[in-house]
Formats: sequence, structure tokens, C-alpha cells
Amino acid sequence: MTISDTPPEVTASSPQYASPQYAPQFLDTQILEVHPGGRLEGEVLISGAKNSVLKIMAATTLATGRFIISNVPRITDVRYMAELLAEIGCEVTWSGLNELTIDTPSEITPVAPYDLVTKLRASISLLGPLLARCAEAEVALPGGDDFGPRPVDMHLKALEELGAEITVEHGIISAKASHLTGTRLVLEFPSVGATENILMAAVRAKGVTVIENAAREPEIADLASCLAQMGATVSGVGTSTLVVEGTDELWPVERAVIPDRIEVSTFLAALGIAGGEILLRNARHSHLDMVVRKLGEMEMRISPSSNGLWAMCDRRLRAVDVSTLPYPGVPTDMKPLLVALLAHADGVGIVTENLFAGRFRYVDELVRMGADIRYEGQHVIVRGKERLSGAPVQGHDIRAAAALLAAGLGAEGITEVHGAQHIDRGYEDFAGKLNALGAEVVRR
Ligand code: EPU
Repeated sequence: MTISDTPPEVTASSPQYASPQYAPQFLDTQILEVHPGGRLEGEVLISGAKNSVLKIMAATTLATGRFIISNVPRITDVRYMAELLAEIGCEVTWSGLNELTIDTPSEITPVAPYDLVTKLRASISLLGPLLARCAEAEVALPGGDDFGPRPVDMHLKALEELGAEITVEHGIISAKASHLTGTRLVLEFPSVGATENILMAAVRAKGVTVIENAAREPEIADLASCLAQMGATVSGVGTSTLVVEGTDELWPVERAVIPDRIEVSTFLAALGIAGGEILLRNARHSHLDMVVRKLGEMEMRISPSSNGLWAMCDRRLRAVDVSTLPYPGVPTDMKPLLVALLAHADGVGIVTENLFAGRFRYVDELVRMGADIRYEGQHVIVRGKERLSGAPVQGHDIRAAAALLAAGLGAEGITEVHGAQHIDRGYEDFAGKLNALGAEVVRR
């Protein structure tokens, strides 16, 4: 299936469309052009969280029957996960504008092939549930990423400790276990992906699994709550110790995905650069404590409102130092956005990356726009400038491309963001939402 702006031809392996009006508009936009504009004003509806829906979709392989997932963002990564599920044997249907129906048959094929895994790194999330459900699974080894190596050793080690036999040969992870047995696992680092894979394997293991040093991201709480609704017993949700009681009885559910806190952070960064006053409908303040605190230190005004977050930026922001950390720290996904924000702020700020070694490629692109930025080791030193100058720039991943686009809002002249297809992987109609707030972003 190719990405197109008309409903693609439906094949045996394509997500089906219950009705053509629900067919997602997948756009193959390579370039987004940002024209200098004024302040951002108005209301923006925050979509469902990418990093939550992809894992909930993986969890649908754990039980036979019909799942209905609402508040699903219409993004390319969801399409790739839908294609993977179709490959495994599930029937995936867009049954509403933001609603997916997934029918999981009693017999599934526990294989995630290379061509799809390379498109979607989150396909590694299928390893745990497929193994737990089918006693075996094959998932192509996801490679590195544009922002550095992305090992999966913790995922594999934990599944081995639950009793799986794992081999990695010819680029394929093969896992086998007639049954998994609950045990106490201690993670070296609170990895989001490893915690999720273990959770989805442990819900079908015999006995109790304890995950120490588990990641605490809201998307993990959303997955745990989905598994609990499916019949699993998971306690300690939101803490770094998760306790899972395995069961053979899981059933399909209907549920809504939580709002995307990284999308909220992205609009807040855009507001900090362009100035203005916006309401972020559905945003959850409780998922954004540290981000709100840091932006507050920079003198952005943000407060919870009855249906989301209100934010105002009526001055050039003040530079601060920021470190990315696992939740509840400032998310690594916000780093490119923070650097873009600091490039426009008053003063010098240092951003320290503590999660991904190579998340810096966008810095050279911001420098092409006139930004004064240096990086050394894991630190980025940003000297703010009142105005950047628009230039053609290249985004290499979802957040980097979004940050370059946001930077263009405060630049003189036109900024051409190449690699804009990355934005569509993770943001539902980012350009359209910005334009509704008064920006001028044109698809090329
Ligand atoms: N790590 C290992 N071994 C492992 C797993 C992780 O060394 O087996 C290391 C990683 O290399 C990294 C750190 O642990 O240095 C954290 O990685 P983590 O496993 O937490 O990240 P992830 O599950 O691969 C998810 C999100 C990322 C987000 C990170 C951190 C999804 C699909 N991806 O990745 O989101 O940056 O958590 O919060 O959930 C994005 O949305 O653009 C994105 C990249």
C-alpha cells in the first residue's frame, strides 16, 4: 500500500475502511513551507497519543474478538501498525474518523516481517504479546534510528528471564516458550519499550511478575489500564514497581487513547516562538508537570482550564537550562523543540540529553537558519537570537522535523522543511492545526 491522499486500494493486508468517509487522509508531503506569520491565537484539539495507541494496538493480539479504540490519531505510524496487525491476521477497520475496530481471530501468525518493522520501530512491541499468545514469535530486529542506536537487549533479557528461548539470527528475533513464568525483573534503565513488552508478556504468564525500575510514562499507565480492562491484574501503575498476575482469560475491550502530551509540548514550543494565546483542548496538565514548570521559568503563562490547558506568551522567553529524563522529567522527545525555543529566547540555555546519544542532527539545520548553537557530548549550548532567518532545512525524525517547522514560525523569510513526511508519522494534521491558529504553513 502506498501513502496517498485518496483512500488506497484495499487489499488482504490493508487496514479496511468501514465507510470511505473514514478513510484516513495519508499525505505524502515531503516539504512543508513556513511563511513568517503573526501570533498564534485560538483553540487546538489535541489528538490521541501516538506512543499509547501503538502499544494498545499491539495488545489487541492478546485476546480474540473485537476491539474498538477511539481517539486514534490519523498518523502514518498507526497505518503501519495496522498493516502489521493485518499481516498477523487481524482485521483492522477505520470505523470512525478517529476510531479503529480491530478483530483479532483465534488463530494468528506471530510474525512481524522486516519490511514493516523498518517502517515502524514500535513493532518490537509485538514481541511480548505474540510470544505470550502463540508460544512463539518472530520479529525482525529493528535497526538504529536517525538519532542513534536503539538496542532492545533489555526487552530480550527480560523475556528470557520469563522463560523464553531467544535467538537472533539473520536479523530476526525468534522467541519460543511453551509457557512463560512470572518472576522478579529488575530493569537496568526504566525503558519505555522494555516495560511495555514485559507487561504484555506477563499478563499471560503463570504466576506473578514484578517489574522493578519500570518506566512510569503516562502511555505505560494507559497500556496497563487497557490490560486491566482486558482482564489482567496489574498493580503499582504509575510507580516504578509494577506487579502483574498472569491469566489465561483476556477479552477484547472498547477504550479511548489518552491525549498526546508530546503534541501538547510541540504546540507550547510553537507558541513560545510565535507568541500568542491558545487553548489546548484535551491536554492533561497532570502529564506535563515538568514541561509546564520549565516553560513557566521561561515566563510562558500556562494554566489548566476546564477542558485542557490555556497558554499565553506575550514576550520573548527567557533562556533556562534543561535536562531530559525519564518521566516525570522533561521528555527527550521535547528536546529538539526546546532547542528551537531557546534559539529564539533571551540569553544562554544548556540542554542536556540523558536518553539518546545521537539526538543532535537537527542542530546543524537550526544553525543553517542562523541559530547560535554548539554541542559537546550530551550538551547543547544555545545562545538565543531575536530572529532566525528562513532557509531550506532537513528533518530526520518526527520531533526534529516538527521543531524545525516551529522554528520557522519565528524566522524572517520562508523556511522549507524537507523530510516533512516524518511529521505525518507522529502528528495528526500538524500543518492544518497550526494554520487554524493563524500560521501560514503550506504543503508542497
Ligand atoms: N535502551 C537500551 N536497551 C533496551 C531498551 C532501551 O539500552 O533494550 C536504551 C535506549 O537506547 C535509550 C533508553 O534506553 O537510550 C530509553 O529507551 P526506551 O526504551 O525508553 O525508548 P523506546 O521505548 O525505544 C519510546 C518512545 C520514544 C521516546 C522514548 C523515551 C515509542 C514508540 N517510542 O521509545 O518516542 O523517545 O520512549 O521516552 O513509544 C517519538 O515519539 O518520536 C519517540 C522516539
